[in-house]
Amino acid sequence: MTESIAQQIAALRQQIHAHNNAYYTRDAPTVTDAEYDRQIRLLRELEEKYPEYAATDSPSLSVGGPVLSSFSKIRHEIPMLSLGNVYSETELNEFIERIHNRLNSTQELTFCVEPKLDGLAISLLYEHGKLTRAATRGDGSIGEDVTHNVKTITNIPHTLQGDNIPERLEVRGEVIMPIADFLAFNQQATNNDSKSFVNPRNAAAGSLRQLDSNITAQRPLAFYSYGIGIIEGGSLADSHYQRLQQLKEWGLPLTAEVTLQKGAKGCLAAYQQLLEKRPTLNYEIDGIVYKIDAIALQEQLGFVARAPRWATAHKFPAQEEQTTLLDVEFQVGRTGAITPVAILQPVFVGGVTVSRASLHNADEIARLELKIGHTVIIRRAADVIPQIVKAIADTKTGSETQKDIIFPVKCPVCDSEIERIEGEAIARCTGGLYCAAQRKQAIKYFASRKAMNIDGLGVKVVEQLVDEHLINTPADLFTLTAEQLIPLERIGAKKAEKLLNAIQQCKQTTLAKFILALGIREVGDATAKNLAEHFLTLDAIQNASIEDLEQVDDVGAIVAKHIVTFFRQPHNLEVIHALLAAGIQWPEVQAKAEQKLPLAGKTFVLTGTLAHTSRNDAKQALQALGAKVSGSVSKNTDYVVAGESAGSKLSKAQDLDITILSEDGLLNILKDNP
Ligand code: IVH
Repeated sequence: MTESIAQQIAALRQQIHAHNNAYYTRDAPTVTDAEYDRQIRLLRELEEKYPEYAATDSPSLSVGGPVLSSFSKIRHEIPMLSLGNVYSETELNEFIERIHNRLNSTQELTFCVEPKLDGLAISLLYEHGKLTRAATRGDGSIGEDVTHNVKTITNIPHTLQGDNIPERLEVRGEVIMPIADFLAFNQQATNNDSKSFVNPRNAAAGSLRQLDSNITAQRPLAFYSYGIGIIEGGSLADSHYQRLQQLKEWGLPLTAEVTLQKGAKGCLAAYQQLLEKRPTLNYEIDGIVYKIDAIALQEQLGFVARAPRWATAHKFPAQEEQTTLLDVEFQVGRTGAITPVAILQPVFVGGVTVSRASLHNADEIARLELKIGHTVIIRRAADVIPQIVKAIADTKTGSETQKDIIFPVKCPVCDSEIERIEGEAIARCTGGLYCAAQRKQAIKYFASRKAMNIDGLGVKVVEQLVDEHLINTPADLFTLTAEQLIPLERIGAKKAEKLLNAIQQCKQTTLAKFILALGIREVGDATAKNLAEHFLTLDAIQNASIEDLEQVDDVGAIVAKHIVTFFRQPHNLEVIHALLAAGIQWPEVQAKAEQKLPLAGKTFVLTGTLAHTSRNDAKQALQALGAKVSGSVSKNTDYVVAGESAGSKLSKAQDLDITILSEDGLLNILKDNP
C-alpha cells in the first residue's frame, strides 16, 4: 500500500512535469485544462494526506509558504540591467555601426534575437541544481526575495535535470501571465465583482508581489528564460544562443521564438516575422531584442550607464484591432465639459482590454462620420489612451441597426442647458455646482493629493456623500459627523474616524494648495503656486484685475479671465467664506527675493501686429526682464509698443503723452538686455 502511494505520487508528479513542459516550453498542451486540474488536485490531496511524501520540488500548487509581512531585500551579485531601444531601421543601423566602431571591425555580426516579453524580470538562483532563491529586479541592484511565490510557478523547475550543471547558476528571465489565462482571470474577476487587471504585465507583477504565496499559487503565471547572471563551478558555451538552448535542456522554459540572425538584414527580417506572429502568441510582447551572440564580444563591448552596448530592444508600433461601436455615453467633467465616450465591444489591443474610448467632442464624431453599430478600428500605443482611428467603410452602408449619434442639448446628469461657445470645440453643461457630476468632481479635486490631500476621500466615498445629500460643496466636508458617515455602505466606525481626522488635518495647508483646490478652470498646481507667490494673499488674488493677473508667469488672457469670473460668482465666494470659517489656514507667503532686473518697475502695453515676433513672445521676453505687461493704457503705463495697425491704445498713449516704441525700438531694448 505504502509503496503504491509513493509510486502514485511520483507518477503524478512526473506526468504534471511533462504537461507543464508541453504547455509552456513547446506551446503544445497534451491534456485538457480539466484533466490537468484533476491531476493537480489529486496530487495535492495525496500530499496533504501523506505529508511524509512531501517534496519541495513537487509541481503541485501547494508550495505556498508562510504569509510574509514584507519581502526581504536581496542584493544582486551582478546588477540586473535594462535595455536601450531603437525604433526604426535607421536607429538599428546606427546601433550596429556603433558596435562596429567600438570593435574596430566591419565583420558581419551574429545576433541572438528574442521576443521582448512584457512581464516582470526575475532572477532564479540554482545551487547544485536546486532552486534556492528568486528575486525581482527591483532597482537593478537590490530586488525583493520572492522565492516562495516563484516556487508556485508551475513551469519553473525546482531541480535542474541533466549533466554539467554549474554549482551556482543564476537564470534570468521574465514572469508573465499568458494572454488566455489573463482574459479568463479577468472574466472570472468581473463575474465575482472582484478586481480585474488592466493588462497581463500588471497581472503578473501584482500576482508575484503577494505576501501570501497561496494567492500567487492560484494565479496562472509562467516564466521564460532570456539570460544568465552568476556562473560558478562550471562552464557554459561561448554563444548566448547556445547558452539559452542549454538552459532549455536543463528544464528551463524558453520561448520558441529565439533565433540566430546575421547583420541588420537578418534582424529586420526577424522583426517583421515576429510582428506578424504577434497576434498568435499566447504572451504579450512589446518588441524584439537583438543581442550580440558571441559572449567574448559582449564582454569586450561592456555596458554604458545601465544598459549593455551589445543588446538593444526594437519596439513594436502601436497595435490596432477592430471592434463594434455599441453606444456613445456623454460624460460630464469637473468644469462641465461634455465628453462623448465610445462604448465598445471589449477588444484586446496593445496589451489591454479596451471597452471604452474617448471621442473627444462633437467635431471628432463628425470627422469620423461615426454611427452606433459601425465596425471601428481602435489603436493603442503603449501607455496611451485608446483612440478610434476610423470606421470601416464597408460597415457604414445600409444596415438598419445603425443609429446616428445625437449630441445632447441638455446635461445628461442635471438636465441644465448645454452651451457651446463659438469657436470652441467643447460643449459644456451650464449647471455648475448645481450639476451633481460637476459637484462630485469638484469635491474629489478639492480632496486630491496635490490639493487638500484628504486621505480616504476617494471617488466612491465622494459619490456616496453627494448622492446621500450629505455634502453639496467642499465646505460641507467640514460639518460631517461620524453619525452621518457610519451608516454608509463600506464605511464603518473606524473608516469614519480616519476620514474625519484627515478632514481636520487638511485644514493646515498652503495658499497655493488652497487656490488649486478651488478648481478654477485651467489653474493647475504651477499656476496656483505662481499666483500665491505673486499676490501673497487670497484677498489680493480675489481682487486682482485681468491686467494684474496677466503679470503672473504662466497666466495669459484666458486663464486671467477664468480667475476673475470664478471670483465674481457669489456662490464661489460663499464656499470660500465657509472654508475659511471652518478653519482652513496657511502660513504667510514669503515674497520672492526682490530681483534687480533691468526693467523692474516699468509697465509696457503691446498693441498692433508685430512683424518679427508674436505679442506673447514679446510679453514673455519683457516679463523675463522684470517688466510688467498690461493689456490697457493708463497713466501708470511707461511704454506703449505700437505694431502695425495699432488703434485706440496708440491714440490713448499719445493723449497721455506716454513714450511710444516701434517694434524696432522694442527689439533694441530686448537686445540691450539679453
Ligand atoms: S535582456 C542586459 N532579454 O526588458 C540585458 N530583457 O528593458 C538585460 N525583457 O528588465 C535584459 N524580454 O524585464 C532581455 N528577451 C529579453 C527580454 C528582456 C523582456 C525585459 C526585462 C528587462 C527589460 C529591459
